[in-house]
Amino acid sequence: MKMSSSSTTKEWILGISLAAGTAAVGYLAYRTFVSRGKCCKTRVNLDIQKDNPKVVHAFDIEDLGEKAVYCRCWRSKKFPMCDGSHTKHNEETGDNVGPLIIKRKEA
Ligand code: FES
Repeated sequence: MKMSSSSTTKEWILGISLAAGTAAVGYLAYRTFVSRGKCCKTRVNLDIQKDNPKVVHAFDIEDLGEKAVYCRCWRSKKFPMCDGSHTKHNEETGDNVGPLIIKRKEA
């Protein structure tokens, strides 16, 4: 028995539609159950103490002096102190980060 060309074309369209639908459902299932929350996260810390599981700095409040300026962009060469590198980072990325400034209240 010979199949007509319109029948073969319909079968191809049906097959392609079925494959595309299966791929779409698979992709959505992957995004929902497997890659949730992983795709778009970026690291804040690019190169500071990468051998430590957690970067922590502690200072005694009595040692801060009149004013202390701490980096919050993680780009400072003097980390944890701010060296102004946030300006270049903000220009390059469109970000708006700046330092944490702690100073004594003027009496
Ligand atoms: Fe990072 Fe200034 S260098 S906040």
